[in-house]
Amino acid sequence: MRNYNVKKLKILELLAQTSCISGEVLAQRIGISRTAVWKYIQALKDEGYPIVTTKKGYSLSTTSDLILPENIEKALETHKINLINKVYYFRSVSSTMEVAKKLAEQEKNFLVIAEKQTAGRGRLGRPWISNEGGIWMSLLIRPSISLRESFILTYLASLCVCKALRQITSLSFYLKWPNDIVFLTNDEIKKVAGILLELKAEVDKIDYAIIGIGINVNNQINSFEPTGISLKELTNRLWNRTDIIIEIMKNFYHYFQVKPEEILNEWKQLCLTLGKKVKIIRPQGELIGKALDIAEDGALWLEAENQRAVKIYSGDCIH
Ligand code: BTN
Repeated sequence: MRNYNVKKLKILELLAQTSCISGEVLAQRIGISRTAVWKYIQALKDEGYPIVTTKKGYSLSTTSDLILPENIEKALETHKINLINKVYYFRSVSSTMEVAKKLAEQEKNFLVIAEKQTAGRGRLGRPWISNEGGIWMSLLIRPSISLRESFILTYLASLCVCKALRQITSLSFYLKWPNDIVFLTNDEIKKVAGILLELKAEVDKIDYAIIGIGINVNNQINSFEPTGISLKELTNRLWNRTDIIIEIMKNFYHYFQVKPEEILNEWKQLCLTLGKKVKIIRPQGELIGKALDIAEDGALWLEAENQRAVKIYSGDCIH
């Protein structure tokens, strides 16, 4: 775990509490010299915090909702969640998946978070719009599982995110196959979050897995994404993204110790797809049928019209 700096954390807290605070007051409140304050402010700016320096002192250009990586590290340490060694935080990246891939050469297990992605990507090669205000992050882990068993990671991740959103907001989020986190509003299914899994593996051993998580939190959804919605749009208020990330990480820690069958069972209980008539869109064509169950290998059992039950491993699912 990074040796998080309590003084930097204190500076961030004080900045978030006031519209503007002088270097002198910061120095007094924390018990350090003004030069030290200046150095910490420079370090925070380098880490991407939007700190503005004026004649009167320092302020955060946005106090409403900042992801605080040091608070995440601190919370993980407090709750003894030794899942990752480090949290990397960036103002803007192409995609946290790309950054995680590069960092995999030098770090073991870690989390990459960005305020914004310029080339975010979704499932099936689609772009993923990632403006400021959302949670865009990739968790790189090195689980001791085979390639065959790796399907469980997307179920585990979507379950962790769905439960975290339920715990934080007290709203009823559900899962849609294969791994969307959705909200049901006026009988319409709106997507709040999605999961993207990328693996580096040898024949039967995973070197690492990158679990990409995209959650629409305080961002505005573009009008050309009619099936998406953000937490802010759902509830008319802003949400603390740091708290959401901490809750997700707590869930990950718990579910990494749970057997795959139990994960699937819990996943199925929150799944909206099972028992419904759905349309599966795949490159090889469309299939309509009743979604029956999730098989032990992660496939969706579909009772296609006039056919026997078939296993579907990937595709888009339309309810
Ligand atoms: C989906 O299509 O539902 C999956 C979306 C996954 C988006 C996340 S945002 C963080 C990470 N970086 C990316 O470029 N994609 C994933």
